[in-house]
Amino acid sequence: MKLFDLTGKSAVVVGGAGGLGQAIAQGLAEAGAKVLISSRKEESLRKAREEIKAAANVDVYYAAADATDEKQVISLLEEAKSKLGGRIDILVNAQGFNKKQDALEFDIETFRQMLDANITSFMITAKHFGRHFKENGYGKIINLSSVRGKIATKGPGNAGYCATKGAVDMLTKQLASELGPFGITVNAIGPNITATPMMVSIFEKRAADAGVDVETYLKQQGEGNPLRRMGTPEDIVGTAVFLAAPASDFMTGNILYPDGGLTAIG
Ligand SMILES: NC(=O)c1ccc[n+]([C@@H]2O[C@H](COP(=O)([O-])OP(=O)(O)OC[C@H]3O[C@@H](n4cnc5c(N)ncnc54)[C@H](OP(=O)(O)O)[C@@H]3O)[C@@H](O)[C@H]2O)c1
Repeated sequence: MKLFDLTGKSAVVVGGAGGLGQAIAQGLAEAGAKVLISSRKEESLRKAREEIKAAANVDVYYAAADATDEKQVISLLEEAKSKLGGRIDILVNAQGFNKKQDALEFDIETFRQMLDANITSFMITAKHFGRHFKENGYGKIINLSSVRGKIATKGPGNAGYCATKGAVDMLTKQLASELGPFGITVNAIGPNITATPMMVSIFEKRAADAGVDVETYLKQQGEGNPLRRMGTPEDIVGTAVFLAAPASDFMTGNILYPDGGLTAIG
């Protein structure tokens, strides 16, 4: 058995036009999988597809869908099946967002939107892709959690994010328990803050607020980690390929932390 080979496998990456989702989609395709990326905006998906093609000379399919909408997820599953040859083996949930607000000022509508995007959508995709995986007697679900599912931040702002990522961790464990008998593994990845292309403008603002240039800011951010640097999308891709590959077939209900060692000391 080739432990890290995904030849003959098909994967759907929800949030696949995002910083981590796009990198993971590219990594899965480079490992041999047929890949479909999905998110709400078709234009971002087209751009991500072109970038993946240019970077890795691999083609990916795409389909727009709002993963918080059950009907759209059912259609996504059907579209993915028809584009990927009838069978899907791997689902990656890499969608979601963080909106920081002080706990005592938190806008509750925003909190509800975070619950919807960061956790309810993971349940909806797992439910429908899980049914398909059960029919095949095989499937791998990989949920993007965060170190913030395990450790809170010292400063304010992350009540919504920490709550939803903690929920992703427990959803992962419960799904692992329920779906294991059907040959389906369910694991999560808990990255530390990662320098994705879409974080650049946020980092620029924070650096300006702190009165330093972006490079200095990024260096300072990484210094709290035992490995003394901030993570890159590539640091997350290897974990995703591992969880998608036969190498992890006997692992389920785990949360893996490509986090520079933060959770070791957190
Ligand atoms: N980057 C980090 O530092 C970091 C650290 C730890 C954990 N994570 C987690 O990793 C995952 C990916 O993060 P990222 O940095 O790649 O975020 P990102 O760059 O903002 O990408 C998020 C993706 O999710 C899609 N999305 C959002 N809501 C959606 C919905 N309702 N239905 C379908 N797609 C939706 C977005 O596209 P549309 O807006 O077009 O739908 C986008 O493609 C998230 O769960 C995040 O919490 C990230």
